[in-house]
Amino acid sequence: MIPIQIGDATLYCGDALGVLPQLTDVDAILTDPPYSSGGQHMSDRQADTRTKYVTSRSGNKLLADFMGDNRDQRAFYFWSTLWVGAALRAAKPGSVLCVFSDWRQLPISTDYLQAGGWVWRGIVPWVKTQARPQLGRFTAQCEYVVWGSSGHLPLDRGVGVLPGFYEYASPQQREHITQKPLGLMADLLAVAPPNSLVLDPFMGSGTTGVAAVQKGHRFIGIEWSPVIFDIACRRLEREQQNLFDAPKAAEQPGLFGEGA
Ligand SMILES: C[S@@+](CC[C@H](N)C(=O)[O-])C[C@H]1O[C@@H](n2cnc3c(N)ncnc32)[C@H](O)[C@@H]1O
Repeated sequence: MIPIQIGDATLYCGDALGVLPQLTDVDAILTDPPYSSGGQHMSDRQADTRTKYVTSRSGNKLLADFMGDNRDQRAFYFWSTLWVGAALRAAKPGSVLCVFSDWRQLPISTDYLQAGGWVWRGIVPWVKTQARPQLGRFTAQCEYVVWGSSGHLPLDRGVGVLPGFYEYASPQQREHITQKPLGLMADLLAVAPPNSLVLDPFMGSGTTGVAAVQKGHRFIGIEWSPVIFDIACRRLEREQQNLFDAPKAAEQPGLFGEGA
């Protein structure tokens, strides 16, 4: 498959399971795969992603449905094990994998990460500052980043000390139903040593890519939906233009670049 090159970003439109075996030398993987969640029962999971994840208040009704979010629990576990295994083979020894999960899929996420051959190293909560309160229940206000390494993880990787949780509101202006905050992705990429090759096999609108490029990393992104792939290309192109224009705007900071 021929990728599209935008500056230091290499973008593939296709199935991650088909593209991952072509990749090597990855230093860090930060990704937000389809959760196949969104409800208690199988019928809830098999609804389209707009029905599951767009609330009447969120104003994102026009955003495109995304793919691969309708597996039952056994299929989700099996498929996740396949892609994390392929990701391990694409990654360098000592590289890091960070995968998003919601609370329902958290137990299976720590299982599949290890079944795929990664060393599980912890869970980092993302505290979403707003969440819908429910009478008589704890508020489900977090998503989680399950992380691990390809084998031994040296202490002196040049990344310093990292926090135990992150607090960010979900983006108000979105181009993807489950778009992650740019600042959150940039903060999480602190786990990658300088000049890393960062991979997101489920890049959606390309938030990981924009954050990676802003931090001076190289990036490989994969997205199967052509409509969403185009959105990622446009965001990466805009970011590339921003990087090009930044020196000219040095005397007027704040004019360029996507905000967090
Ligand atoms: C949860 S979204 C990622 C959103 C992203 N973090 C953002 O900020 O825009 C997961 C994406 O993975 C894509 N996807 C699902 N299955 C895939 C597969 N097998 N290969 C590549 N992409 C896939 C979906 O179309 C969806 O856009």
